[in-house]
Amino acid sequence: MKNIILIGFMGVGKGSVAREVVKQSGMIAVDTDDIIESMENRRIKKIFKEEGEAYFRSLESKVAKWLQTSVTDTLISTGGGFYKVDQLNKIGTVVLLHAKFNTIYQRIIEHPNAKRKLKKRPLFQEIDKARDLYDARESAYIKQADIVIDVTGKTVDKIAKELLKKVKKR
Ligand code: S3P
Repeated sequence: MKNIILIGFMGVGKGSVAREVVKQSGMIAVDTDDIIESMENRRIKKIFKEEGEAYFRSLESKVAKWLQTSVTDTLISTGGGFYKVDQLNKIGTVVLLHAKFNTIYQRIIEHPNAKRKLKKRPLFQEIDKARDLYDARESAYIKQADIVIDVTGKTVDKIAKELLKKVKKR
């Protein structure tokens, strides 16, 4: 199986779904934000604060090039803005986890670690700004995706099963 790339808005559940897909498939998984944090030895929040967003985006491009040339058979979860990198589909099958903004926001605030989840995301500091960002990105996410999975009201178990089934069919 070639790479699977999970894209979608902040808080939609890319990390949780990735962990469940690993459990069900035994695939190796990496996360682009984790790769960037280990390259830089500092948190995303700190990178944004100290270097700005453009610098962070340049790191995403660098990671994308490495994934294209050097990674196979891997489940790749990404930061919410990673979908913008050049030639995303050269990395593998692009799977969008999709839900309405309000569903995503609800999911975040209902989480026991809601405060931490919001704090670590520089682009989710104000709900109105986050909603604008969602509106600006929604159609672009769909355009980039080979497979769209509506996650609304589904358990991670169900989402992971649906994902693996749809990827295998391709
Ligand atoms: C971002 C999403 C974040 C992280 C960074 C920028 C975005 O990842 O990459 O804060 O532009 O949407 P998550 O989607 O895991 O929150």
